Amino acid sequence: MPAFRAPRGTSDILPEDQPYWAFVAEAGARVASRFGYRRIETPTFEPTRLFERGVGDETDIVQKEMYTFEDHAGESLTLRPEGTASVCRSYIQHGMRNLPQPVRLFYDGPMFRYERPQAGRFRQFHQFGVEAIGDPSPEIDAEIIEMGWMFLQELGISDITLRINSLGDPDDRDPYSAALGEYYSQHLESLPKEAQDRLKRAPLRLLDSKDPRLQELAGDAPRSLDYMGEESRAHWERLLSLLDGLKPVYPDLNYVVDHRLVRGLDYYNRTVFEIEPRDAGGQSTLLAGGRYDPLVEILGGDPAPGIGFAAGLERLILGLKEQETPIPETPPIDVVVVRPGDTERERAAQAAAALRARGLSVVVAPARSMRAQLRYADSLSAQYALILGDRELERGKATLKPLDGSGEQSEVALDPAAICEAVTHH
Ligand code: HAM
Repeated sequence: MPAFRAPRGTSDILPEDQPYWAFVAEAGARVASRFGYRRIETPTFEPTRLFERGVGDETDIVQKEMYTFEDHAGESLTLRPEGTASVCRSYIQHGMRNLPQPVRLFYDGPMFRYERPQAGRFRQFHQFGVEAIGDPSPEIDAEIIEMGWMFLQELGISDITLRINSLGDPDDRDPYSAALGEYYSQHLESLPKEAQDRLKRAPLRLLDSKDPRLQELAGDAPRSLDYMGEESRAHWERLLSLLDGLKPVYPDLNYVVDHRLVRGLDYYNRTVFEIEPRDAGGQSTLLAGGRYDPLVEILGGDPAPGIGFAAGLERLILGLKEQETPIPETPPIDVVVVRPGDTERERAAQAAAALRARGLSVVVAPARSMRAQLRYADSLSAQYALILGDRELERGKATLKPLDGSGEQSEVALDPAAICEAVTHH
């Protein structure tokens, strides 16, 4: 047992996994820029109040999952559990309300939640997220969903389902919560203890519980769609028709209206959605989001509507591995410099420096036997070994040996330009 291990629920992302991470991050940035979104980066910690207010005091995240600490000046800070509150804070702080609206932003980075770790659920995890702030129209909702769908397509993740619901507006919420409260109260004695407490504080959350008894009850529970005001209904209907309009481009974009979908963060109104593998079970939501029109004002800004989503990168990468998706490899090392014996190591270092200065990737093999050095070159999947043998050196030459089985070794002038030429034009 090593003396130290990474904390529970966190992982090292080792070199062999980096191609997956690069693949996913590049796909995110590429898709976001195709839709005109620009990158934003916010700090990994923020004032605790930001999340208490933004994400909501009643949520699991705020009640149980935040990494909160006091700094040396006694200020309470929290490692961000998600990105939306931070992006809205930044939007307000930098007066982005004065820019042409909507402002389209994307981000990726680590998030922190003290959750019970299991497959696909971590304490430090990574999200790719997008936010469009300043446009109330359903066209933006459809754009965000189209972008999420395209992102997963671009990664080759297929067999996915889009679940979608509308929570209506905050004014519609009270009668709806009351109806839910009444419905569940009729079954009070059969509810788990935690659900009985929840019933008073956050009845909507009972709908998406994993508890089998609650899942059974959720089927017949009142539906938010039946409590929506006129405006949110019109918004919802327009959104569904916009999604239908995407069919010619994305024939498999099938959405399922799921009235149990309420999401675990308090800032949502109207549209909420999640995308998960078709045969999903457990912690499998790949990408989730929704509209959060009240949030900017809750955080002290002039009112500005918003909508966005975030995808969990660890879950996407698990999906890529399960599907055995081919991932572009990191470019191999061009040249490993091999110097038989332990003399003239400087010549090897000089040759390597001159080749790197011309843009090749070059590693000098450690001083070992010739065989061991060539084995080392193989282990790096290098393209060539540049062998500085004594006899060749005397004549100002070296041997260039292809390691990928692509041809015979040849003698080259020990001249960086000539070697470069031979390596790049092989
Ligand atoms: P969320 O549903 O809390 O939403 O998280 C979004 C995604 O992050 C999840 O669907 C999942 O893929 C991933 N995720 C969440 N928690 C974990 C975890 N403990 N381990 C691994 N992956 C996890 C949000 O965070 C909202 N900010 C999304 C949003 C953006 N809504 C509007 N704009």
